[in-house]
Parts: sequence; C-alpha cells; structure tokens
Amino acid sequence: MLQKINDSAAYLSRFLDGEKYATAIILGTGLGELGKSIEIKQVIPYAAIPHFPVSTVQGHKGNLLLGRFGGKNVVAMQGRFHFYEGYSMQEVTFPVRVLHALGIPRLFVSNAAGGVHPEYQAGDLMIIHDHINLFPEHPLRGPNIEELGPRFPGMTDAYSPQLIRLAEEIGRELGIRLQKGVYAGLQGPSFETPAEYGWIRAIGGDAVGMSTVPEIIVARHAGMECFGLSVITNSTAAPEEIKTDHTEVQKVGRTAQPQMTALFRELIARMKE
Ligand code: HPA
Repeated sequence: MLQKINDSAAYLSRFLDGEKYATAIILGTGLGELGKSIEIKQVIPYAAIPHFPVSTVQGHKGNLLLGRFGGKNVVAMQGRFHFYEGYSMQEVTFPVRVLHALGIPRLFVSNAAGGVHPEYQAGDLMIIHDHINLFPEHPLRGPNIEELGPRFPGMTDAYSPQLIRLAEEIGRELGIRLQKGVYAGLQGPSFETPAEYGWIRAIGGDAVGMSTVPEIIVARHAGMECFGLSVITNSTAAPEEIKTDHTEVQKVGRTAQPQMTALFRELIARMKE
C-alpha cells in the first residue's frame, strides 16, 4: 500500500510545480459545481493517476482539479469513491492517503445527507461537528502501517473546532443559515426506512449519508485537519412523508451549492497559509 500511495503521489507531484497546496476538497454527490469557481490550472482524470479507483456513480465526475480558490492553491476531488459501489475501504480512502502524501495538511469534505434532526429542512447546510460510524467495515482494519499513522488514533475533535468556529463566523457574516450536527455514516445504497431514520435520530445522529466517515477517519489517522459540510437534501422529520429519491437529492444539492461554495471560499481565504 505504501508503494502505491507513493507512486500516485509521485505522479501527481509533477503537476504541483513545487508550489504549496494546503487544502484539499472532496466534493460530494451533485456538489461538483464548486469546481467551476476554481481557477483551474490542471484537470487530472482519475483514470490517469496510477492506482486510483475510477468513479462510477451517476452525478459524479472523476477528476482531480488543481487550481486557485479563495486566493489559495487547492486540490479538489470532483467525485469520490463509495463503499456501496463495491470498493474496499482501502480503495475508498486511497485518495486521502495520496493527498496527505502530497504534503497537504487540511481536508474539506462535502456530502449530500438526509436530515434526521426535526428542525432541518431540505436545502440547509450542516457543519459536521462529529460523526457516528455505522459502516460494516473499518478503513484501518488490518496491520497498521506506522508510517501512515498510529494503531489507535483518537477521534475526539476529528472535525477541527477552530475551523468550525471560523465557519460559523463566516455564516453569520454572509447570512448563510448553518446547522451544526452529527453525521451518521452508513453503507447504503438503499436509503433508510422510516424506522432506520428514527433509529439514527435516537442514537444521536442529526444527518445521515453514505460517505465521509471513512475519509475523515483516514485523514485523522494521517494527522490532517478536517472540516465537513453536509447539504441536507431531504428531511425525514415526518415519517409518513418520507420519500427519499436520488433525483431529488441531486436537485436540492444543486440549489444549495452557491452557499456551500461561498462558505468554502471564505474559509480558505481566511486560512493563514
Ligand atoms: N440517506 C442516506 N444518504 C443520503 C440521504 C439519506 O436520506 N440523502 C442524501 N444522501
């Protein structure tokens, strides 16, 4: 695995031109629009990157974007890898390992999620302040590679409290309504039954989705600073009205993108380096 990570990083580092890249962004389902606000320097298809898996799901693009955003250099993943697509947890999280190997210390993650908090409405943005891992497999299962991180990484403050505070400040300044809550990550691909939404609420989840948790675990294992944002694409507060569907998830995701882009841009602009 180390060899593969290093091969991919070696291939990509040629495109960085020796410049510092401090932030990587993973764009979630139907949330690739932020890519259009990046002053693009390079578009690298995943298929060209040694050992990278290739994205298959509808609504996902498979490109790594290098460019300027918020006045800084960023790398954006337009399209991510999901466990439900059949990838192993090592494949799902491989890009995060590579981004870290490139010397990028900070990871921003976005996703589409179902709102299980009764006050969340479709179109809301939720800052992720914690998560609950409900995936049936763990990305760190197996022998620990000490070069990558510790055997038993802590997950307290996995989502940087400083970045959360800054995002809340920016939300207030820009007039963006921001929720803050717990993201429950499970494998999908079926959406949840009303009983399952109720269970997620009961165990402390505010939103639910099929990604992010493995990536954040691996990023924290590697010591990266993390920030996560969910676009609430559907409300599950009224069990008799639940009818989650992928087209609707994508549609709502699209409408929330300008605000998500504005928040990410401003966060990055205010980073010290
Ligand atoms: N459940 C799981 N994943 C999701 C949902 C949902 O309701 N909405 C968007 N992604």
